[in-house]
Amino acid sequence: MRVALAGKGGAGKTTISATLCRVLARGGFPVVAIDGDSNPNLALALGVDHQASAAAPYLPTSLVSRRLVGGPSLTAPVAEVVDRHGITGPDGVRLVLMGEPGHSSEGCLCSAHATVSALMGDLGGQPDTITLIDMEASPEHMSRGTTRHADLLVLVTEPYFRSLEAVRRIARLAEELPIPRVGVVANKVRDTTGAKAVVEFCERHGLEHLGEVPWSDDVVQADLAGIPLLDAAPDGPAVAAISRLAGTIGEAAHAHTIAAVAAQGG
Ligand SMILES: Nc1ncnc2c1ncn2[C@@H]1O[C@H](COP(=O)(O)OP(=O)(O)OP(=O)(O)O)[C@@H](O)[C@H]1O
Ligand SMILES: [Mg+2]
Repeated sequence: MRVALAGKGGAGKTTISATLCRVLARGGFPVVAIDGDSNPNLALALGVDHQASAAAPYLPTSLVSRRLVGGPSLTAPVAEVVDRHGITGPDGVRLVLMGEPGHSSEGCLCSAHATVSALMGDLGGQPDTITLIDMEASPEHMSRGTTRHADLLVLVTEPYFRSLEAVRRIARLAEELPIPRVGVVANKVRDTTGAKAVVEFCERHGLEHLGEVPWSDDVVQADLAGIPLLDAAPDGPAVAAISRLAGTIGEAAHAHTIAAVAAQGG
């Protein structure tokens, strides 16, 4: 099952993505994490060894072939691509990096986005793997369709108006893509007023409320020290809340696998 995390800048996408990946991997799922941000941070949040992540190759854009029908696809088998171009992080999470601008004024990252989109598309052939992509804050991944292959789009929001507005805009764009399930996670929730505001927002816009993560000093301290949240505060309230969300995603992944096997007549 392929899960994409999106939302306004700083809402907590990378923190939640990294923790979800590792909790799901500990739960026995094969996990592929994709850093879909051109300002990549997922390696750090996962706790990938600094040397390994500095030496990590970006997904080569030569891997994408543009088909006339069905959009971009990979020119090599997806398992081979993940094997060759991914790095293994804590708990066995396999991390693939989209890439970042190497130089100023070098132009757009269209082919990098197309390659990630192709990778996401081809990972659909591995329904028992959980693929989780951490998107950049800009809604460009919607207009480019990078997220089109997601089976679940998780919109991360803080309980304040502009963050909710960003989610509303992304959700509206998602309606034009074939994404079967879109839900909202409230992050940095400090009180019942904030929690209620997100619940009401979801009701008003017909969006599923997938969960909430409290504001926690654990996250602040972990980030300050450059340590993954899961290692810094495994028993804290933020990890507990993200683990509940992982449970919801894990259930959906099991159902997804069963449906995929049935569709293949197996
Ligand atoms: N539940 C939380 N409690 C307190 N601080 C948090 C929480 N979640 C995230 N943060 C803090 O918010 C900041 C942004 O988090 P993060 O990098 O995960 O967001 P992001 O959405 O990935 O940002 P970007 O849009 O830049 O990619 C970080 O300093 C992080 O420590
Ligand atoms: Mg981020």
